Amino acid sequence: MENNISKIGVFTSGGDAPGMNAAIRAVVRASIYYKKEVYGIMQGYEGMISGDIVKLGARSVGNIIQRGGTILKTARSQEFRTREGREKAFQNLKKNGIDSLVAIGGDGTFTGLHKFYEEFKVPSICIPGTIDNDLAGTDFTIGFDTATNTAVEAIDKIRDTAISHNRLFFIEVMGRNSGYIAINCGIAGGAVATILPEESITMDDLFAKLDEGGKTNKKSSLIVVAEGSKIGGAIELAEKFSKRNNYFDIKVTILGHLQRGGTPTYFDRVLASKMGVASVEGLLAGRNDVMVGIQNGKIVYNDFNTIMAHHHEIDNESLRIAKILSI
Ligand code: F6P
Repeated sequence: MENNISKIGVFTSGGDAPGMNAAIRAVVRASIYYKKEVYGIMQGYEGMISGDIVKLGARSVGNIIQRGGTILKTARSQEFRTREGREKAFQNLKKNGIDSLVAIGGDGTFTGLHKFYEEFKVPSICIPGTIDNDLAGTDFTIGFDTATNTAVEAIDKIRDTAISHNRLFFIEVMGRNSGYIAINCGIAGGAVATILPEESITMDDLFAKLDEGGKTNKKSSLIVVAEGSKIGGAIELAEKFSKRNNYFDIKVTILGHLQRGGTPTYFDRVLASKMGVASVEGLLAGRNDVMVGIQNGKIVYNDFNTIMAHHHEIDNESLRIAKILSI
């Protein structure tokens, strides 16, 4: 059954991701194309609660497809976790006549939207926007490609100085509890080891790996550490390693929020554009409480429970390749 909607509210929530602006643009223009009004809700659920809502037109989203960050701003709202907060948000939507929602964000955003849908039945769809690529139901999230490219570019620069000084670098990348960014940076950046939350590696394994390199005259090395590593972050690992090592001169780089900014890659812009249009078309077709995804190159819609019941697993082939190439 189709949703009977006329005013769509769009917002970004959680950590920003490059390509979110391209997604906003696509939602706005697709809404207008289908003769619906569209409103931007500022700062995610925070703006819904405070009533910070602006009408958008096709020109409001001109010249943003290439920009990182999000023109609608974003937040991680504590108040929306409460029933009172969600009630205020609902009243504000009603006041503005907004009868449907498109949220762009990660699992926290989708969890909030799901709760809101259960309580108030406002037709709603989520677009996966997070650099972490940690959501089941889509092969890629918006921002992952750009963030990984940014990290690889930084790793290449670190490699130059590492080689010049015969140093060992522990480089920490983002990804929360997911090793997606790390494994791809490890392969593309030529790391000797990649420490992932998904794998159980011990300090002894790591020492053995680096000792092997020492024996074959490896003078410098890069180790990529996912921030969700179970055996410690880059600083901790470097400290532990220095106690047992008298071979390498050790340094640490934490790439941090650098990975969240910058111009989105063509891939993220196209992905965001496809998902943005699909979110509006999904809403019009009567889909609710689902997340748009892309699987094997095709747009798909999965419901909240399906997405949350699974992890977005790192493929075994990537793990195998990384192992073969890191000798
Ligand atoms: O979810 C995106 C992400 O960048 C994670 O990789 C990271 O753990 C987290 O957000 C950092 O969040 P904040 O910017 O709120 O510190």
